[in-house]
Amino acid sequence: MTVSNQTTSGAGKDILLEVRGLKKYFQVKTGLFKSVDLKAVDDVSFSIRKGETLGIVGESGCGKTTLGRTILRLEEPTGGDILYAGESILHRDMNEFRDKMQIVFQDPYASLDPRKTVSDIIGEAMDIRKMYPNKAERRDRILELMELVGLNQQFYNRFPHEFSGGQRQRIGIARSLAAGPSFIVCDEPVSALDVSIQAQIINMLEDLQKEKQLTYLFIAHDLAVVKHISRHVGVMYLGHMVELAESYELYKNPLHPYTQMLLSSIPVANPDLSRSRKRIRLTGEIPSPLSPPSGCPFRNRCPKADGKCAECLPSLEDTGSGHLAACHHL
Ligand SMILES: Nc1ncnc2c1ncn2[C@@H]1O[C@H](COP(=O)(O)OP(=O)(O)OP(=O)(O)O)[C@@H](O)[C@H]1O
Ligand code: SF4
Ligand SMILES: [Mg+2]
Repeated sequence: MTVSNQTTSGAGKDILLEVRGLKKYFQVKTGLFKSVDLKAVDDVSFSIRKGETLGIVGESGCGKTTLGRTILRLEEPTGGDILYAGESILHRDMNEFRDKMQIVFQDPYASLDPRKTVSDIIGEAMDIRKMYPNKAERRDRILELMELVGLNQQFYNRFPHEFSGGQRQRIGIARSLAAGPSFIVCDEPVSALDVSIQAQIINMLEDLQKEKQLTYLFIAHDLAVVKHISRHVGVMYLGHMVELAESYELYKNPLHPYTQMLLSSIPVANPDLSRSRKRIRLTGEIPSPLSPPSGCPFRNRCPKADGKCAECLPSLEDTGSGHLAACHHL
């Protein structure tokens, strides 16, 4: 996998998804005749190699879901480009890409239609595409998908309310796999689940990835959740990507003050790493995305902020061997 803010990296044959300068601005009314742009995703670039995972972390409201939805064009981008297997999907009919690009939602309670049976939920994508006109073949395929995600086949005609959160998320994952995708946005797939169930679902997603060569954009609040599943991790703050590196490198050597803050708030099993990691206490609230600070978006909470930080937005740059960070004072 390559993580880069260089716009030429799509030339790499093994890159499945590339995002170039992606922007999603929402027009928000602030008065009777006034509206402002809420920059939910602002100039974000990266690429993901086939079969690998890019984890995305950041606090609530930083733009993770909007990033995932915009990549799938469930939201229309305001600017930038999205390339799937080297081809821009921007001016294409998304029906051509829906089979290949799927999403698993955060909330396994709200995302499943309560009036549909498990088989109809999983079979929906197959039915829309008329993939299995033969009823017996359709049934076999749904049963196969149920088995793949660890659902007992006798649940075929059950309704979502009869399942636990973890089982519902298994249904959501089976649904996302039904049309044979290559790329899946996993939008906080485990954050609504009990901690004991989270590892089971993450392990299953990892097994599925290996078996089917899936490529994931894996969104989470928490760095601890993305650590193991992600080859690379990107940290977002107020719509910007502020750091992007190999997962191990990001944990060992966080460069951006915001990443250092996120990491200092999670427990570390390794005592050497724990001692070497300075605890950083941050003050201040996340600014409203409707009126972000000038210059660096993190400056009102950053212990290193100075005049330059108030004037110029730092760009995401390679600090060496693919570890990218956006800060004037690394
Ligand atoms: N349809 C919309 N219209 C206006 N603003 C929106 C819309 N969708 C999202 N936003 C705003 O965009 C910003 C990013 O929201 P988003 O849901 O992408 O964040 P997130 O990182 O996924 O947060 P969370 O961790 O809570 O899921 C927020 O300020 C949110 O209020
Ligand atoms: S650019 Fe300045 S305010 Fe922003 S993270 Fe770096 S030091 Fe802090
Ligand atoms: Mg979200």
